[in-house]
Amino acid sequence: MLKDKMQQALNDQLNAEMYSAYLYLSMEAYFRSISLNGFATWMRVQTQEELFHATKFYNFINDRSGRVTLKSIDAPPTKWDSPLAAFKDAYEHEQKVTSLINNLVDLSLEERDHATNTFLQWFVTEQVEEEDNTSTVVERIKLVGEAQGGLFLLDQELGARTFTQPTALAETQA
Ligand SMILES: [Fe+2]
Ligand SMILES: [Fe+2]
Repeated sequence: MLKDKMQQALNDQLNAEMYSAYLYLSMEAYFRSISLNGFATWMRVQTQEELFHATKFYNFINDRSGRVTLKSIDAPPTKWDSPLAAFKDAYEHEQKVTSLINNLVDLSLEERDHATNTFLQWFVTEQVEEEDNTSTVVERIKLVGEAQGGLFLLDQELGARTFTQPTALAETQA
């Protein structure tokens, strides 16, 4: 059974993952508006990943006989000055989420909640990848700089990203 404080913190993280999905969906809309459809596809996959993260928290709270309570999702920004600005925001956002996950891990230790601690380890690893994915694109956009041809090629490359449902979803739904 989840303790109140832990339950509240997990519900907050569920909300933060929904916000992440909303933020990336907004970035997708921005990229579509400037015809960078490959960048937009990359963001759609990112949104799907965040919805998967939210679902993991949702399932875990239920699995622990807790109570999921949904709160309103903040409105994300709707426009950015450049593809670089959007991806810098994405990287910054992932760094924030990493600190949220780290705080949750700290709380699970304080509360001696070993099951939650084990559950959170997946997210600790995932955040390494999330930061790496976004910072890599930031660096690549910087590399191509103002060159339109470079941006075009990068757009094609990012457009190849597909969402593969991690097998962990089956585990948390079982
Ligand atoms: Fe996430
Ligand atoms: Fe993320």
